[in-house]
Amino acid sequence: MKIAVIGAGTIGESIARCLKDYDVVATRRKTEKIKHLEKMGIEVTGDNKYASEKSDIIILCLKPKKVPRVLREIKQNTENKIVISFAAAIEIDLIKKIIPEAKVVRAMTNVGVIVKEGFTVYATRDLDDKEEKMIEELFGKMGKYEKIEEEYMDALTGLSGSGPAFVFTILESLMYAGLKVGLPRELSLKAAIQTVIGSSKLISETGIHPSQLKDKVVTPGGTTIEGVFELEENRVRTTLIKAVEAATKKAKIITSLLNREFQE
Ligand SMILES: NC(=O)c1ccc[n+]([C@@H]2O[C@H](COP(=O)([O-])OP(=O)(O)OC[C@H]3O[C@@H](n4cnc5c(N)ncnc54)[C@H](OP(=O)(O)O)[C@@H]3O)[C@@H](O)[C@H]2O)c1
Repeated sequence: MKIAVIGAGTIGESIARCLKDYDVVATRRKTEKIKHLEKMGIEVTGDNKYASEKSDIIILCLKPKKVPRVLREIKQNTENKIVISFAAAIEIDLIKKIIPEAKVVRAMTNVGVIVKEGFTVYATRDLDDKEEKMIEELFGKMGKYEKIEEEYMDALTGLSGSGPAFVFTILESLMYAGLKVGLPRELSLKAAIQTVIGSSKLISETGIHPSQLKDKVVTPGGTTIEGVFELEENRVRTTLIKAVEAATKKAKIITSLLNREFQE
């Protein structure tokens, strides 16, 4: 399987690394910034046309505004090929307007792909079962994945696309909390990280609902209820819900702005 990753920045370079066991060519204009990928057997070029021509699957990891221009540039090399766009806010219909002969997949992932622990969601109307299996094999190399309806894409941009920034904020706060109660910096960060990893694994491996697990930690008259009371009083749950809602709203606004800009 020959794969082109067009726009090898933060997400694109990580995806190229995850897929390095295939025949991958990665592009960006400043090629010197990804020259090191050649050591992993990934071809590096600044030529999107060349990369798309030699590939069976084309993965776009460009900022949304760049997508229409690059699609026009590679249009002649997309006929009957699978084109996967990771750009936020660019709808399948918009992509298909520019490259109608391609089999289009719209996907969203997150920075977890850097360590092969991304959460990738994808929507498509064009692929048969065999082709879906093929792209799921690729997404599987990047972490967990799920097929979704395109209407959920903005909400997942807000929850799992932006989500790492929210979790980093929580981790940073827990680390500072450790400093506040007198822990050394490194020990505090280690404790915060492992607490988040362990809690996440516990939920995903047991399937037990988070509220039930929380109930196991909160003992009557104990230490944890003191902390939980503070969280409730300061509306941490409401704040997190509002954070995801705000990110989702912004994704919707950008989607409609881009639709207007590129469809008129
Ligand atoms: N970062 C995240 O956490 C995240 C999460 C989920 C989804 N996304 C989505 O993923 C997409 C990429 O985001 P990112 O954070 O990876 O952005 P990024 O780091 O800016 O990467 C985009 C890359 O595209 C390259 N590029 C620009 N114009 C090009 C052209 N004409 N031909 C080839 N390459 C070109 C840029 O490099 P040059 O300037 O050298 O060309 C840049 O490295 C966005 O649509 C974003 O919405 C990002």
